[in-house]
Amino acid sequence: MRALILFATDEGQTEKIARHISQRLTEQGIATDRHNIAVDPNRPIALDAYDAVIVGSPIHYSHYDVRLAEYLKQFRDLLHEMPSAFFSVSLGIMSEDDSEQDEVRKITAAYLHETDWNPLLTIHFAGALTYSKYNWLKRKLMQWVAKKEGGPTDTRFDYEFTNWKQVDLFVDQFVEFIQRCKQPDEEYAHRTMYSKPVRRYSVANLRAKAEESA
Ligand SMILES: Cc1cc2nc3c(=O)[nH]c(=O)nc-3n(C[C@H](O)[C@H](O)[C@H](O)COP(=O)(O)O)c2cc1C
Repeated sequence: MRALILFATDEGQTEKIARHISQRLTEQGIATDRHNIAVDPNRPIALDAYDAVIVGSPIHYSHYDVRLAEYLKQFRDLLHEMPSAFFSVSLGIMSEDDSEQDEVRKITAAYLHETDWNPLLTIHFAGALTYSKYNWLKRKLMQWVAKKEGGPTDTRFDYEFTNWKQVDLFVDQFVEFIQRCKQPDEEYAHRTMYSKPVRRYSVANLRAKAEESA
């Protein structure tokens, strides 16, 4: 089985999480490729070469990455069929102020609506405050935000808030979902040259199983 991890990142935390996810999947025998959308945004991706896809984006100025959204729209039909998951990276999600968390969830709902994508799993990870990577203006802005939120304001250091146990649990849960999406062996083996192309792992199989057990 092969999975693609498609992500965007400005300061590197989403990439770090993507790498951690890759490692966890590899440990479970799932081969992975990672693609950073910023490196080569126009490079075509053969998404149909993968059995599953995990997409990750940070929030900056209340928005997820627009280049990722373009990919998601382009692959909409395939994404409706294949097992997929979305991980969001933000600081608002760890705010003690419920309205800040609600704001993050609203941004997520709008993004999924805009891209017409309904991933099997959507999860929110806390990101990082990487003062060392900000320019003067961003550093002042993020220090102001941190102060407002009761977070760390000493700009000589970087602060990571990602809960790696939560990342592991997300991966494990997604792997379980992918397994449940698997086409029954006998049906897959009985394909002929006249059969319609079938995906080995399809959300339709998961739905069929859910209906069977209902
Ligand atoms: C300029 C800037 C704007 C940000 N805007 C938001 C925001 O609107 N909402 C939020 O929850 N987090 C916001 N964050 C926090 C980022 O989502 C967080 O730092 C994340 O770890 C960045 O991921 P990356 O390192 O992969 O780019 C912002 C961070 C920066 C530097």
